[in-house]
Amino acid sequence: MKITILTLFPEFFDSFKSTSIIRKALEKGAVELECIDYRQYTLDKHNHVDDTPCGGGVGMLLMVQPIADCLKAVRQEDSHVILLTPQGKVFHQKMAHDYVQRYEHLILICGHYEGFDERIRDYVDEEVSIGDFVLTGGEIGAMTISDAIIRLLEGVITKESHEDDSFENGLLEYPQYTRPIEYDGKKVPEILLSGHHENIRKWRLKESLRKTYIRRPDLLEKRAFTKEEKQFLNEIIEENQKK
Ligand code: ADE
Repeated sequence: MKITILTLFPEFFDSFKSTSIIRKALEKGAVELECIDYRQYTLDKHNHVDDTPCGGGVGMLLMVQPIADCLKAVRQEDSHVILLTPQGKVFHQKMAHDYVQRYEHLILICGHYEGFDERIRDYVDEEVSIGDFVLTGGEIGAMTISDAIIRLLEGVITKESHEDDSFENGLLEYPQYTRPIEYDGKKVPEILLSGHHENIRKWRLKESLRKTYIRRPDLLEKRAFTKEEKQFLNEIIEENQKK
């Protein structure tokens, strides 16, 4: 997969590209990550990419021309173009999977300043937000989406490493422990030391349901349950009422 990021600050991505799993993915060739400064496409004689809003108001808006021309230069037939904006669809794990499955080339456009000239929206396929808050620019959003995608690509981390992640089965991940077996009087649950795979699987499923029920009940509303899950959920509700 190739990810092209259109940004006024390509240097923002230097440590992202040179650190840990993302660096390894780039070295292996699992992904190609290109950052392009769209200022180089401006036709403004002072090299400006922004201007004041028509009709008045505070702040500066990104002009459509530099971004549209940059897009024309980098877009291929199979590119999927995403505009990073707080007005977009809120990003989630399933979208990361969809992008991996459906697209060979993603273009992520990062804004800055007060926003974009509305007409930029005619040149993109989709608008995406990383949450209901406003950032100074789209760079952190582009990094977030790229990171979530890259770790799902073949050969980056093992499939098993992300199969049990939070959200992968519509639930938050179960509690995990490592050595020491006891720390500051707090013990690792006995069952995880038992070596009994089926009991461990059941415990993890139930604790995954419990965590989701307590922290993100909204996730359960959208989900279908197996018979086993229904039973665990009833037990959790009962256990909760006894508390
Ligand atoms: N740019 C500014 N805020 C943003 C957000 N929440 N998501 C994506 N891009 C943004």
